[in-house]
Amino acid sequence: MFRCSTGWINETGQICACLDDITDQRLLERNVLRQEKQTLLDTLVGGIAHELNNKLTPVQGFAELLSLEGNEESRRYTGYIKKSTAEAVNIIRQLLQLSKPSAPLPQAVDLRQIAEETIGMLRFQIRESRCQVRALLDSSPVCVIADAAQLKQVAINLVLNALHAIEGRPEGMLSLETHVTGGTASLIVADNGCGIPRENQSRIFDPFFTTKGHEKGSGLGLSICFSIVSQNHGEITVESDAGAGARFTVSFPQADTPAVLFAPGAEPVPSVPALRAVPQGTRVLVVEDEEVVRCLLQEMMRTSFGCQVDVAVNGAEALTALQNREYALVLSDIRMPVMNGPELYRKVLAQSPETARRFVFMTGHPGGQHLEEQITRWKIPVVAKPFSIGRITEVCGPFVRAASGEETHRQVPDHGFSRDQAGGVF
Ligand SMILES: Nc1ncnc2c1ncn2[C@@H]1O[C@H](COP(=O)(O)OP(=O)(O)OP(=O)(O)O)[C@@H](O)[C@H]1O
Ligand SMILES: [Mg+2]
Repeated sequence: MFRCSTGWINETGQICACLDDITDQRLLERNVLRQEKQTLLDTLVGGIAHELNNKLTPVQGFAELLSLEGNEESRRYTGYIKKSTAEAVNIIRQLLQLSKPSAPLPQAVDLRQIAEETIGMLRFQIRESRCQVRALLDSSPVCVIADAAQLKQVAINLVLNALHAIEGRPEGMLSLETHVTGGTASLIVADNGCGIPRENQSRIFDPFFTTKGHEKGSGLGLSICFSIVSQNHGEITVESDAGAGARFTVSFPQADTPAVLFAPGAEPVPSVPALRAVPQGTRVLVVEDEEVVRCLLQEMMRTSFGCQVDVAVNGAEALTALQNREYALVLSDIRMPVMNGPELYRKVLAQSPETARRFVFMTGHPGGQHLEEQITRWKIPVVAKPFSIGRITEVCGPFVRAASGEETHRQVPDHGFSRDQAGGVF
């Protein structure tokens, strides 16, 4: 990109033209702007995820409790509630993946799942464009090693471009395909839209190249796709003829590992174990600012362990409770007003390291990389909201039973935040 300035040289009567290459300057400006937008998006999405996961926790939890006792009809109804909750949690997870900062986190990824989730995420735009969608996906996993969130960003950009290309055309067709040939796994996004003239094909991956006008497109979509795919050791190519649609192929070396995309709250849920009542007088402290979540945990703890449950609405109240009593377990939310979970933990650690060893955190979204890393260093188990009774029993059980001498703390699983699973979250 060049800036051209012209001037008139009075003395000689000549015109002078000066060309400045401002490509780097423009790239830098765009990068700064993108960084700022990304930070804003992270904060916004993180906050929304936290709130929604908190609200979904009692919906899922009470539905589960009801299904334990209800008749067949109410079990069917609670089944619908649980299914819808799981779908909502999935949408939140996808939003979080999209807003995640872009340092690649390579993991085994199934390209079929990327295709399906992309179609799911863009269903409104697809419906609006009135095109037909075909998903021609392999019947077995198409695994590659790459950053799942980044791959989804690539697929979303390609599908959005395809939808633009189809716009206004009758019988628009969008297809997403997966293929494995000779050790290479590919995801293909194809359309029968306006196509790309040959002379543009070598330029479409350049930053700022757009035919949409600056109102509609920044010309960054494909250049971002290109850099993401290259960073993840893959290749992106295009085949197209003007007027005859376009076909983008993203390929990577095929990986053997079976792909498991992490879904917070969607971890395999162990069936609710039969009540193993702990000795009378075993007490746990639940620290949580949302009233309904506190009620839910009281019920779950009673159902799972038959223990007594005290509650505190923030860290400060919890500190007072801890000064008056011994607890087998402190199950604390992370983000709370007055005193949050980590502040409470720090204070307890200073006063009574033994009590600090009985902490479990729960969260809808921890709210920041720094906090996440801190909790990982402390090696405190973390339960993602919304949670099932099985999950609560699995994580809290060893603590509650350790208090009655059944198990030692050493057996307590280490569930701290893990970057691989987390998409930076749980
Ligand atoms: N499926 C497609 N069919 C036809 N042309 C396409 C297709 N995909 C990309 N192009 C062409 O490549 C250009 C660059 O695409 P790119 O995604 O980088 O930018 P953009 O879509 O114009 O803007 P944005 O930054 O909003 O993505 C587009 O302007 C368009 O001319
Ligand atoms: Mg684009």
